[in-house]
Amino acid sequence: MRSQILGTGSYAPSRILTNADLERMVATSDAWITERTGIRERRVVTPEEACSDLGVQAARQALAEAKIQASELDLILVATCTGDFPLPSTACVIQHRLGATQAAACDISAACCGFVYALAVADAYIKTGSRYVLVVGAEVMSAITDWEDRNTCVLFGDGAGAVVLGPSDGEAGILSLHLHADGRLADLICVPGGGSSMPISEKILAERLHYIKMRGNETFKVAVKTMEEAAREALAANGLTVEEIDVFIPHQANIRILKAVSQRLGLSFDRVAVNLDRFGNTSAASIPMMLDEVVRENRVKADSLILVAAFGAGLTWASGVIRW
Ligand code: UT7
Repeated sequence: MRSQILGTGSYAPSRILTNADLERMVATSDAWITERTGIRERRVVTPEEACSDLGVQAARQALAEAKIQASELDLILVATCTGDFPLPSTACVIQHRLGATQAAACDISAACCGFVYALAVADAYIKTGSRYVLVVGAEVMSAITDWEDRNTCVLFGDGAGAVVLGPSDGEAGILSLHLHADGRLADLICVPGGGSSMPISEKILAERLHYIKMRGNETFKVAVKTMEEAAREALAANGLTVEEIDVFIPHQANIRILKAVSQRLGLSFDRVAVNLDRFGNTSAASIPMMLDEVVRENRVKADSLILVAAFGAGLTWASGVIRW
């Protein structure tokens, strides 16, 4: 028995922050950001918008596409590292706003890999007898971005993507998902303050430790290596060659990472789905936002094979193959 994506949705806040805007905030340039990352603009929330606001919009679209009522959901999983509150979970906020009264709800924390991790949990849940699971990847990265740190503030954006998963009635569905983690590399990307290890205090705020810190260059090298390995693992698990993949949806971190991974895999770049030029790195939202765009642009049809691969803080990395 397989689980299948029955509907997709996505949402990005309307406020656009361009590279030209960033030039006025930190010592950077449009040329540097475009050349080193491929990002031209990103979306950021207004003070009135939180993670759940983005997630609800994406979820409503996915439910409508799937023709499933919120009341039919058994489980809601929200992959995020920028939820509305430390507690309760953003999934519970979304459950209430959708009116998904029968659904259990919790968040999944695996940074940029969060959506693929949540998809794996949902897939297992369906395989053990549940009917419908909503998986949301939603992030307000602007809330943990240090707008004075040029090393990181040019990279991230806000957004949400969602899928409704249900039992497959044929060959279509999730063929396999592969999850990995190596906590030894936890300090490559982290938000050091604000948790139980360093609770919020004036000192934490003054030292800006409640914002994301990243050793970008080291992260870059591990990202290329692990995403290639994970992609190969997913292909091998299904006896597939790279030529058989119709669309590759990688986590949207940096155009140079995407080019390096596709080159190492021998996958032509026209089969790589890219939207980071418009949205930047939206962490757990990046793969479901990209998937929704690919679906809406009819870049996949019945039987198409989609390869996904992600990489993020933890460190975590993950991959999978979906037959559409
Ligand atoms: O989603 C989670 C996973 N995250 C990632 O995968 C991110 C992976 N890393 C990256 O994408 C890249 O490493 C970055 C885009 C973050 C940085 O690019 P890089 O080519 O690795 O640059 P670098 O960190 O080696 O820095 C090169 C230079 C430095 O100047 P010096 O020391 O050579 O004088 C930086 O200070 O570029 C400088 N720099 C900037 N210059 C203009 C760093 N950020 C900026 C900036 N504008 N925004």
